[in-house]
Amino acid sequence: MSSEETKALVASTFRETILAFHDNASAISISDFFDAVSENLLPVRNMYADYQCAAMEIETKFRVLDTRFSVEYDHNPIESIKMRLKSPESIIRKMEERGYPMTMESMVENVRDIAGIRVICSFVDDIYRMADCLLEQDDITLVQRKDYIRNPKPNGYRSLHLIVQVPIFTEAGKKLMFVEVQLRTIAMDFWASLEHKLRYKKTVPEEEKQYLSAELEACARMSADLDARMQAIKNRLHQT
Ligand code: GTP
Ligand code: MG
Repeated sequence: MSSEETKALVASTFRETILAFHDNASAISISDFFDAVSENLLPVRNMYADYQCAAMEIETKFRVLDTRFSVEYDHNPIESIKMRLKSPESIIRKMEERGYPMTMESMVENVRDIAGIRVICSFVDDIYRMADCLLEQDDITLVQRKDYIRNPKPNGYRSLHLIVQVPIFTEAGKKLMFVEVQLRTIAMDFWASLEHKLRYKKTVPEEEKQYLSAELEACARMSADLDARMQAIKNRLHQT
């Protein structure tokens, strides 16, 4: 069945259900109705819970590392951690764009950034140290590493990206889950947030877009310079 046909079928079934509900509105208890809706959403909620658990595992690992470093070196390498789960719309859009088969199995195998963790560090060397400490752990498997700090994207984007696999232990047994980890400095995050706004704003005229892209590219160079100089100051402070 094509995706258009599936959408039409789901829409018509949904419409019939709502109409049936209307016809029998006085007879159906509201709690039974919500129970029925929530039972039908159960597989989706189950899937999201698995990804949330996997992201929580990774987040805890980083919090443990941060705490250990603060005791050992009197320095907190991590500034903040953000977690996000990809929305169903974004999952479907990505699968359509890349031409992946539209099945649950294909989604689990191919969409490896459903669970995302963003780790914001103060200094560039903290990023590499945190990544190494995570990857050393024997329950973590590195699936892909993209170093956009040593090799920034042409637009100036910098961050270290890891796709890892982490086990979660559920009532149904052990499951291996993919998690995307993005490690950045505060400066890289500041830049990426603004660049993201430009990328997704549809109403910017082409000429203005070109001007803003050039400005952002210049800011990316300044932010890389800032990170390098802050790192150098920290290194010198350590030597004294
Ligand atoms: P997707 O973009 O997730 O489909 O995967 P990809 O294979 O292109 O992965 P990549 O590691 O290049 O990027 C993954 C994520 O990093 C994106 O979803 C963004 O969150 C972030 N990212 C990558 N490039 C940029 C960029 O140029 N600007 C900003 N703001 N974020 C970026
Ligand atoms: Mg992504």
